[in-house]
Amino acid sequence: MSLAAPAPVRTAETGVIVIGSGIAGLSVALRLRPYGRVLLVTKAFLDEGSTRWAQGGIAAALAPDDSPAEHLADTLTAGVGLCDEEAVRVLVDEGPGAVQRLIAHGTEFDRDEDGGIALTREGGHHRRRIAHAGGDATGTEISRALLDALKDTGVDVYEHALALDLLKDGTGRAAGVRLHMIGDGRAGEVVEVRARAVVLATGGLGQVYSATTNPEVSTGDGVALALRAGADVTDLEFVQFHPTVLWLGEGARGQQPLISEAVRGEGAHLIDHAGERFMLGRHELADLAPRDVVAKGIMTRMRETGASHMLLDGRHLGARVWERRFPTILAACRHHGIDPVNEPIPVVPAAHYASGGVRTDLHGRTSVPGLYACGEVACTGVHGANRLASNSLLEGLVFAERIVEALRSDLETPSSLGTPSSTGTAPADVHALIDPAERGNIQRIMTTYAGVLRNAEGLAAAERELRALAEHGADAEQGTDVEPGVPAWEATNLHTVATAIVAAALRREETRGSHWREDFPDRDDTWARHQTIRMTTTGLTTTDLTTTSLTTTGEPR
Ligand code: FAD
Ligand code: SIN
Repeated sequence: MSLAAPAPVRTAETGVIVIGSGIAGLSVALRLRPYGRVLLVTKAFLDEGSTRWAQGGIAAALAPDDSPAEHLADTLTAGVGLCDEEAVRVLVDEGPGAVQRLIAHGTEFDRDEDGGIALTREGGHHRRRIAHAGGDATGTEISRALLDALKDTGVDVYEHALALDLLKDGTGRAAGVRLHMIGDGRAGEVVEVRARAVVLATGGLGQVYSATTNPEVSTGDGVALALRAGADVTDLEFVQFHPTVLWLGEGARGQQPLISEAVRGEGAHLIDHAGERFMLGRHELADLAPRDVVAKGIMTRMRETGASHMLLDGRHLGARVWERRFPTILAACRHHGIDPVNEPIPVVPAAHYASGGVRTDLHGRTSVPGLYACGEVACTGVHGANRLASNSLLEGLVFAERIVEALRSDLETPSSLGTPSSTGTAPADVHALIDPAERGNIQRIMTTYAGVLRNAEGLAAAERELRALAEHGADAEQGTDVEPGVPAWEATNLHTVATAIVAAALRREETRGSHWREDFPDRDDTWARHQTIRMTTTGLTTTDLTTTSLTTTGEPR
């Protein structure tokens, strides 16, 4: 059984298809709708992506003592030499306006005593520049506001529809998607929707690992779809591990409760089991160093002391601050029997964010004409080797607006996006399905060999084990004992993405940002370049981009 095999039972047409209903997909759909027909497709309920889980907030130079130039400097430092400066400039310059648009769409940020937007700090920021809502429920509020704004706009919505593959026309241009319906009595139905353009906004890939802050839907589908469609994928080795995730014991699996960096921003600090503040002296910002530095600090002290976790001490913040600023985190901790008002919180790093993804230019265009990418699935170049805290929501907003601009000019009919290409062909490649029972196995392989700490031996083992899973899938194909359906497609996507991460991580023989090689512990500036992964008929190939800029490579777009 191959991914391309199910025959379509229904076809439909629209102007532009947007896949994903997080901050990126919702922003594109809302802003694009005045110009033509838009179909928003999402594989679960509308609010089930990472967006609604966001805690700390959204970064932008909003304070009078701040500036886009300072936001730029902090972002470049966090990205350890791999950010595309032009893309970061777009992010920080257009950021404040993007936050204002979010407010215009109904988002209510927390306010200070003077009625201004209350701002907090997180790792790597030298200023208070993170706007938050509901204390630590920023994503829930943004998601609520954007979903409310979507009502009555005329955006068509398919919930419980998984986008598996891109359809292309005879020229190689994106011409639609193949959807697999999941619920509402349509389970198993296959629909081919034709469109003039497709926007991937499918979020992250944290479910590649055993323990992650990401929800169940974050299975890297967009990256896998883009690879199968022949698009370039960049910087995948830079999977960011959030330093402070609630430790739920050895072997905790699935989505784990996050303890926001904003807790440290408001004064909590990390200690070891002897009560020592081990981040002091490691970095000028100590507990508020960029995320990769803090994650490494925690892992190093865990190794030195043989401890399974470290502790985050916020007792001195007091009950009032906990209740007012961090109600979500307080409730999650108490649910698990920890009271942060009276005791330190046990924490460990866990997979959190994909700094890499489908390579785009400054207007979200991928290397496949007609295919755009926005939000966590995209690699715009703003994050480099390590994303600065709270730059992700901002990226989704800023680049959504740019994609809307691009779509209007690329489709050259500002008043109507309504006439799709008439022919759609399925992707030529045939891929073996991975048994969904192997999902846990993929996560184990990635956690053991391609997690926070990596080395050549482990990554080679990961490569071997992942290849063996694929070979087993291919054998099963003869006997068709892998049931095609959403669990198998998600497992297959996870496998594709895992294989790509391992290939990129094995090749990058240095330590930089969130890519930490035990066998190459230093940064090596001969590696100040990006790796691009592409899928060909013989498998995944990895090539180097010899420039740090993703947008000025001179390659055709
Ligand atoms: P998502 O919000 O993840 O949405 C992806 C959508 O795509 C979902 O609707 C999903 O169902 C859908 N989808 C996926 N695959 C398919 C498919 N095959 N077919 C159809 N639909 C599909 N960032 C910040 O800037 N500030 C923060 O404070 C912050 N806190 C965070 C806290 C947590 C716990 C987590 C997990 C992340 C946090 N992040 C934060 C990161 C940020 O939330 C995400 O990067 C961002 O929300 C991603 O938005 P998105 O729209 O790209 O994707
Ligand atoms: C957090 O609140 O610590 C998460 C912020 C982010 O991922 O940007």
